[in-house]
Amino acid sequence: MTVVMGIETSCDETGVGFVKDGVLLGDALASSIDEHVRFGGVVPEIAARAHVQSIVPTMRQALDAARLDWSDVGAVAVTAGPGLATALHVGVAAGKAAALALGVPLYGVHHLAGHAAADTLVHGPLPERSIVLIVSGGHTSLLSVRDLVRTPIVHLSDTLDDAAGEAFDKVARLLGLPYPGGPSIDATSRDGDPRAIRFTRPLMGQRDPALGFSFSGLKSAVARYVAGPQDPGITTADIAASFQECVADTVVTKALRACRQEGVDTLVIVGGVAANSRVRSLAEERCAAAGIELRVPPMRLCTDNGAMIAAIGDLLVRDGATPSVPDLGARSSIPLELARLG
Ligand code: KG4
Ligand code: ZN
Repeated sequence: MTVVMGIETSCDETGVGFVKDGVLLGDALASSIDEHVRFGGVVPEIAARAHVQSIVPTMRQALDAARLDWSDVGAVAVTAGPGLATALHVGVAAGKAAALALGVPLYGVHHLAGHAAADTLVHGPLPERSIVLIVSGGHTSLLSVRDLVRTPIVHLSDTLDDAAGEAFDKVARLLGLPYPGGPSIDATSRDGDPRAIRFTRPLMGQRDPALGFSFSGLKSAVARYVAGPQDPGITTADIAASFQECVADTVVTKALRACRQEGVDTLVIVGGVAANSRVRSLAEERCAAAGIELRVPPMRLCTDNGAMIAAIGDLLVRDGATPSVPDLGARSSIPLELARLG
């Protein structure tokens, strides 16, 4: 069995993880999020410089957590896209250097395939067919998945504009809540009434695409509400909770529609917004009622991390996939069709 090192640097988290035969041996994470807070969003150059500083110490920390030596590592997987170009380049360079120094194969992988693979670390291999809802800072997609590494992934829908996480980040800014918006809206919503304001569910009309996503109109609706006449009875927590309810209701409704449409009885929800407490509880409720098996990774595996990249690398290695070319490059924008890149 091969120990696979996974490296993730597509955004503001430097993640390194080690997986062998579907088992997470250990991982470590460094984040530059504190350096971006005052800008209200990730600054690519700052993220890239932080990756350069953190990558080697994070590798060391992950090796220690997994109780491994460099000589135990049999393959390297690295996020080669999509993501911030400058940030991706740091991970790809580190992955190439490690693979070359250790004399082991290198696998460039798709970040979103990594998000989906994260779930297999806790719930085991995916069934023959599943619907995967990816809700992250950069993507919102419904995927029809058979074998994560063998069969091309079919996109049933992709957001027409903002991603769900992006909407959380932008709405948090409107409400004066700190970046990243998802966790702060989640926390603030605990003191609010999700029924205080009924924001219109996007693309839920009769003539709208049944599985379509769009979040920029919702963001504008919140902006209009905030700019409008103040209702003294409504708190920031109420607005946050009502917005969160709208997103959760929308993504869970569409995900269940996708399961029905495709005749699939397993739903996997992954990506940063899968860490949202209301998305999780509403999905649990509705999946239980519909007889759908719900799989959501634990919160720390929902947001970006190195373990998920090691997980998809491990699936590729066990499937006998051809390694990527030694001059593997980074692709800042590339749709998820195949888990392996380059
Ligand atoms: O998957 P991820 O870590 O990075 C990307 O690949 O984009 O997702 C980050 C996104 C951010 O927009 C963040 O605000 C959101 O996930 N997020 C959440 C929560 N935790 C992170 N959104 C809602 N509720 C949360 N608890
Ligand atoms: Zn991600």
